[in-house]
Amino acid sequence: MTPDVVRYRQADLLASLYRRFGPVVRMGPYTYLLGPEANRFVFANSELFEVERAFQSLVPVDGPTSLIVSDGEDHKRRRRFVQPALAHRQIASYVPVMRANAEATIDAWRPGETVDAYQEFRRAIRRSTIHALFGEELAQESDFFGAHLQVLINLIDRNPAVVTLLRTMRAPAWRNAMRARRAVDARVYRAIEETRQGKTAGDVLTSLVEGDGLSALEVRDQIVTLIAAGYETTSGAMAWAVFNLLRHNGVWERAQQDDDYLGNVVNETLRLYPPAVVSARVATQAFEFAGKKIGQGTFLLYSPYVTHRLAEVFPDPLRFDPDRWETKPAPHEFLPFGGGPHRCVGAGLATTELTVMLKVLLERPKPELLPQRLTPTGLAAMRPKRGLRIRAAG
Ligand code: HEM
Repeated sequence: MTPDVVRYRQADLLASLYRRFGPVVRMGPYTYLLGPEANRFVFANSELFEVERAFQSLVPVDGPTSLIVSDGEDHKRRRRFVQPALAHRQIASYVPVMRANAEATIDAWRPGETVDAYQEFRRAIRRSTIHALFGEELAQESDFFGAHLQVLINLIDRNPAVVTLLRTMRAPAWRNAMRARRAVDARVYRAIEETRQGKTAGDVLTSLVEGDGLSALEVRDQIVTLIAAGYETTSGAMAWAVFNLLRHNGVWERAQQDDDYLGNVVNETLRLYPPAVVSARVATQAFEFAGKKIGQGTFLLYSPYVTHRLAEVFPDPLRFDPDRWETKPAPHEFLPFGGGPHRCVGAGLATTELTVMLKVLLERPKPELLPQRLTPTGLAAMRPKRGLRIRAAG
């Protein structure tokens, strides 16, 4: 039978270690900083941490100058270029594109057809992210980006030690990934060149290129990062949101009537199913937290998932309850987008995209959630392993 709430065994284990040993848990090469106080500490003391070494495993896709692996002044400068296109007012202008992509996807379902809602919305989200940020021309090649980026995503989904081994041995998986990367890069560099000559204009592309403060490599890295970081996480969240709308009695119907309630459904989904189960940092210097010494160079992980499922933070934590959002939690208690200077730059875009696409779904006849076992997978973009099977209304 389809469960009410899906549990992620690996992450639940972390929560039980937190209860037993407190906020600092050492396991293998990693030290976990768990719970709300640990989150507050990480977000408030960014000078103690770096992300460059923490997210090295993303470099084969995102590149060495990606925002995700940037610290200090470089990070500030790059983020200044990226941020305007992801600001509130700008996001509002992307809504028609998001809506059109959701409509095209849902309206292609035949009555009574079984579809994988995860894959369906994943394609729509990829296309609409590329369109919103980089213009219609690149969006037409959304499937091209999807196919090549998937090879790269599959590579970095592996254990970083395995990736290093594959690279050292120049194994086929590594060579295929590098071929995919060259194909993506060739297309991206062409778009950069065309924008420089004023031929095309996607909002982000134009502000990245025109500022003249970023090198071509820096522009390439931010573009690929925004595409890859943008759709992988958001499509995981979308699958969990559709699951919640269909699984719990009365939720679909209330969300149809009330936009504020739909907003609460999105928040409650990001609470129970934060796609970034953990996020990483490396200690730049030795420090002490909760009476424990952390050495320089320690690889640290904090966990939105663990915090979001603690009863002392969210009473009756496993209950899906959009009404709990009448009171707002603090930033170190609800952190699907991380926090501090590295807080997700696409948080507003992702929330809007989820809300708009769900609204389009809610305007159509209600699909049926088919009985299935849901197994979460992925630590950076938690998603249902075998997708989410629904039957379109007949
Ligand atoms: C539901 C969807 C999303 C989730 C759950 C999510 C989550 C996160 C998290 C947890 C971080 C790391 C924060 C930290 O460790 O402090 C992050 C960073 C980032 N995200 Fe997202 N994200 C989502 C959607 C997006 C979208 C749509 C974009 C872009 C279009 C995006 C681009 C980025 C970038 C560039 C960073 C690095 C920011 C920095 O280091 O300054 N994300 N995201």
